[in-house]
Amino acid sequence: MNPKVILNIPATSANMGPGLDCLGIALDVWNTVKVFDGNSSVDVNGYGEEVLPRDETNLVYKGFAEFFRVIDQAVPPVKLVCENNIKLARGMGSSSAALVGGLYAANSYAGNLKSDYEILNIAASWEGHPDNVAPAIFGGMQICLYDNHELIVSSVEVPDDIMAVLFIPEQPMPTEKARKLLSLEISRSDAIYNISRSALLVQAFTTGDMSKLRYATQDKLHQPARQKLFFPMNNIIRAAMDAGALGAFLSGAGSAILAFCRGREYTVGYEMADAAMKSGIDGDILVTIPSVKGVYEST
Ligand code: HSE
Repeated sequence: MNPKVILNIPATSANMGPGLDCLGIALDVWNTVKVFDGNSSVDVNGYGEEVLPRDETNLVYKGFAEFFRVIDQAVPPVKLVCENNIKLARGMGSSSAALVGGLYAANSYAGNLKSDYEILNIAASWEGHPDNVAPAIFGGMQICLYDNHELIVSSVEVPDDIMAVLFIPEQPMPTEKARKLLSLEISRSDAIYNISRSALLVQAFTTGDMSKLRYATQDKLHQPARQKLFFPMNNIIRAAMDAGALGAFLSGAGSAILAFCRGREYTVGYEMADAAMKSGIDGDILVTIPSVKGVYEST
């Protein structure tokens, strides 16, 4: 039986250093969701296949069902087949990809009733922050902010010659736990530290001038607190920079570290892994590129 719908959803890296809950970028690593007519069920292959639920509590299914709840229609009986290439709980947007996959699968199945922006709003209100779902939907680098309850998104040009090198530790870092560590109040000096670097980061991407990216990816609003959960973080970031990365940061809420490079990608990856290994942390190196494309349907 042929699938009715095939969706491809990219991995994403949120925060990008200083842009806590505001900046995110899509990566060229893809999950797929296929929709078949049939009894309501979920099949999962790839990452998470041993642990992810195969019933209505599966996040892809929840996204699918949420869409039909929003349009006030009964959820049709379908089988969702998920192929997961995004590791779970590593700060690479696996939950956002699941949610966006479910919502878009439903939108397409229902005849494309909602716009990208409408789906973004549904996904962002579920996730609680928009910095993974926006690049998962629109691709590239996205700036996200709320003006009262209105979600504003804006795309930033991504230079076509930068590579993204990730060190993905064996050790997962559940987002909820990593968020609870963040303090509700910050000092003016820390606010200025991050505002200035976020501005520099957008400038670097817009112009392609990466000479100051090492400063533009620094952060004081979440990485210092999250280091308590993942103590080798700073050493891995430093190893990436010493090996020739342009800038490096904790990807999303972790535990992966992302380094942007123009050359020396494998050296940077190796040095990050070596620094982690010195703290007894094993992991994988992934060399990829930013994706200018967000979620898309294939035939
Ligand atoms: N901005 C979010 C955070 C991304 O740092 O908690 C993780 O979902």
